[in-house]
Amino acid sequence: MTGRINASLQRRRHAATGPLVFALLWTLLLAGCGNNGSEESDDYGDILNSPAGLVLVEEEHTAGWGRPDCFLCHEIRNMHVVNRTGLPNCDDVDPALETCLDLGEIQSIIRNGGEQSCSLCHGDNGVQP
Ligand code: HEC
Ligand code: HEC
Repeated sequence: MTGRINASLQRRRHAATGPLVFALLWTLLLAGCGNNGSEESDDYGDILNSPAGLVLVEEEHTAGWGRPDCFLCHEIRNMHVVNRTGLPNCDDVDPALETCLDLGEIQSIIRNGGEQSCSLCHGDNGVQP
């Protein structure tokens, strides 16, 4: 009987410290990635012009390869804010007639799907399922 009570107490203690530990890790890792909290777009140039286009491959992503935790290094507000692809913005053309880039749509997919949504466009990043 005591065994069961202990187990449930331990679970509760974990539930309370989990988010705190996570918040600390988050801060440390963001600092480690050289993020100074400023609002500035990530710039890797035209990423369509890379070995597999949008899909990540190991040689272009050595720092983040095999990791599912994209948000530790990439900040949502700094991604998909500047069109560097050379494609026109969908606001400026007729999307039915021309291939174009809709950054607003990408942002809303991420708002709804979170980190799980990245693989839709950037592939599995070498993450083992
Ligand atoms: C440990 C930090 C880290 C993690 C985790 C990480 N990345 Fe990256 N990412 C980087 C760095 C640093 C670069 C710059 C290129 C390089 O040096 O590897 C980059 C570049 C990129 C690029 C631009 C690639 C190009 O073609 O130039 C994309 C897209 C990207 N990351 C997406 C993701 C996605 C999606 C995830 C999660 C599945 C992820 N990253 C996880 C650090 C990370
Ligand atoms: C619907 C497709 C789509 C989804 C979903 C998506 N991306 Fe992207 N991503 C793109 C495109 C297209 C670009 C090139 C944007 C540009 O050049 O303007 C890009 C560029 C990037 C870059 C390079 C920096 C930049 O802003 O151009 C990073 C980093 C990145 N994505 C990370 C992520 C992460 C992390 C996720 C998941 C949270 C994600 N992406 C989800 C399509 C997508």
